[in-house]
Amino acid sequence: PAPRLLDQFGRVGRDLRVSVTDRCNLRCTYCMPAEGLDWMPKPEMLSDDELVRVVSVMVGLGVTQVRLTGGEPILRRSLVDVVSRIAALDPRPRIAMTTNGIGLDRLAAPLAAAGLDRVNVSLDTIDPEHFAGLTRRDRFTDVVAGLKAASDAGLTPVKVNAVAMRGVNDTDAPDLLRWCLDRGYELRFIEQMPLDAQHAWDRAQMVSQGEILERLGERFTLTPVRERGSAPAELFLVDGGPATVGVIASVSAPFCGSCDRVRLTADGQLRNCLFARREVDLRGPLREGATDTELADLIIAEMWAKKAGHGIDRPDFEQPERPMSAIGG
Ligand code: GTP
Ligand code: 5AD
Ligand code: SF4
Repeated sequence: PAPRLLDQFGRVGRDLRVSVTDRCNLRCTYCMPAEGLDWMPKPEMLSDDELVRVVSVMVGLGVTQVRLTGGEPILRRSLVDVVSRIAALDPRPRIAMTTNGIGLDRLAAPLAAAGLDRVNVSLDTIDPEHFAGLTRRDRFTDVVAGLKAASDAGLTPVKVNAVAMRGVNDTDAPDLLRWCLDRGYELRFIEQMPLDAQHAWDRAQMVSQGEILERLGERFTLTPVRERGSAPAELFLVDGGPATVGVIASVSAPFCGSCDRVRLTADGQLRNCLFARREVDLRGPLREGATDTELADLIIAEMWAKKAGHGIDRPDFEQPERPMSAIGG
């Protein structure tokens, strides 16, 4: 299909991120309070039929990659079925998932068989005690087993996401890189963004791309790789390559100018930006019998209204009301 998700700045939406649940089985301090959040009531969530319907309309508008996110996507019981239904769409989009890895040891093979192409697994440290402190759960070995299963099942390249945090995992960074290199995982460090439910993010405390590179540079030789396209990560060859490490510098070097993303929340709201201040309801129209064309028109109009960028450094910046865990990153 011809790409139809265009905006006023000439960008084209091709990468749809679908949050399939807002629940999570970890409680990472940078994301949620210890007691968790008020989860979405089930009737407000899109059913599998509704979710696949929206994805199918968006594939018809030029979406070529669908990424399943959460919360923790593996907590959606019907996940394998949802993947196989998305894989049956014509044209078939590439299908990826961002997960904390818990439960992947059991599900990696069935997900791959259903059509999942690759996974990104969040793992901020390889120190089991730091992990337990940071996630408030003792699940380090589950994540490690999940990563191995993903790699064995061919969900490759397996990428590892690590949010850089001062005094938490910044000094561990080279150890995490060594560990990932030894296992063939592609590590990316991420600058922390103002998306936490607690609104505790502080620009001055953020570990920047420059600092991350300086840390890694103490143990490794890094060479920038050209050609980034619309990918958020800037890649560096490690010790001459071929292995790479990435840095996602959303704050200090935003990639909004080449953004190709659009998001769907578990309760059926379309977001044209991670930091969008408003959402468009697709669930209501879906349940009231809207046609594919009517849904497509709503989606096209919202994409056109996409802002130039997140504006984190502007004095009038406001964090989105919806926390990260209900947007899907
Ligand atoms: P790849 O296609 O494998 O590169 O995936 P990805 O890096 O786009 O997705 P992933 O879910 O692994 O996200 C990694 C980090 O990038 C997370 O911190 C996301 O919040 C962030 N991220 C993903 N998409 C966007 C985006 O459009 N804007 C911003 N600012 N950050 C994003
Ligand atoms: N800033 C940047 N990345 C974040 N993630 C969670 N919260 C933040 C934040 N505030 C990461 C997760 C996961 C991905 C979807 O986003 O660790 O890897
Ligand atoms: Fe795209 Fe918004 Fe992310 Fe910028 S912040 S890259 S515009 S989704």
